[in-house]
Amino acid sequence: MMRNIAVGFAATEERYLCQVLLRRLLPYEPAWTVTDQQGAEHRVADALSTIADRVGLALPDFAPGTVWLVGAGPGDPGLLTLHALNGLAQADAVVYDALVADEILALTRGDALREFAGKRGGKPSPKQRDISERLVELAREGKRVLRLKGGDPFVFGRGGEEALALVAAGIPFRIVPGVTAGLGGLAYAAIPATTRDTNNAVILATGHKASDREHDHDWRALARTNLPIVIYMGMTFLDRIASELIAGGLSPDTPVAIVTEATTVRQRVLITRLDRAHEDAVEQRLRAPAMVAVGSIVALQPVLAPFAITLRGGA
Ligand SMILES: C[S@@+](CC[C@H](N)C(=O)[O-])C[C@H]1O[C@@H](n2cnc3c(N)ncnc32)[C@H](O)[C@@H]1O
Repeated sequence: MMRNIAVGFAATEERYLCQVLLRRLLPYEPAWTVTDQQGAEHRVADALSTIADRVGLALPDFAPGTVWLVGAGPGDPGLLTLHALNGLAQADAVVYDALVADEILALTRGDALREFAGKRGGKPSPKQRDISERLVELAREGKRVLRLKGGDPFVFGRGGEEALALVAAGIPFRIVPGVTAGLGGLAYAAIPATTRDTNNAVILATGHKASDREHDHDWRALARTNLPIVIYMGMTFLDRIASELIAGGLSPDTPVAIVTEATTVRQRVLITRLDRAHEDAVEQRLRAPAMVAVGSIVALQPVLAPFAITLRGGA
């Protein structure tokens, strides 16, 4: 049966072209179309199939009773991979997180079961064990289960824990990497993760344990590496993190970037310095989701940004 998804995002010419490109998709008969501004339907499966043919890519079949752990990227649907799109076109059930953009969810099959498994409206998030059990349960029902996560499933995304739970249950799975916010999100803000002149390594860290001295990183030791530090979930304890980094030897005027809702049309970029980062973020009313970048790479942002063309507007 042919189903139709009226895609609810603004039908820009660019997006329409993307949809047209996506005609001729998969090796199977799709139940998946998108509708353009004029009401014409396009079979997404046709497009993916054509692109796959062109590049000699064998698009894998999504076997019933298996799970795909898929990264949706940080927000811009243009950062979805072909494998992610292929999974979305076939999945019977999609279990998704809070940071997955609505435009990407609109690409799930019209008749697919969609289940939210994230934090909503200040309510506590579902327990990781419950999510893993749900994935196992849906797979045992014979469904093609797609676990859709913001960014990359294996970068602060608990993809590893879910994969281990699937192993324990004897359920085959596939990992589809996504663009992680700490690299792709910063790139959209014109901040390179490395350059030969600034750094030959970069630290990706989470800030969410910064209130817990016993289990937190040794921020002072990270500071002593003098490497750029890219912090996920760093806003809540930014004040303490900045103080620790300064205590570890970083200069108070070390450049800091805070990028909120990176790669979306709502993206905001604040360039500040370590000793003022928390205060400036509060003053500017910056909110999560946000990436915080600390160090030499941030100094390049004001040089690159004026010439960096962003795909979807934003700061
Ligand atoms: C639980 S972690 C998930 C990270 C994700 N797996 C990834 O690879 O990007 C959530 C944190 O990622 C960061 N994040 C995710 N998407 C973001 C975005 N679009 N803009 C800024 N930060 C983002 C924020 O620090 C957020 O608190």
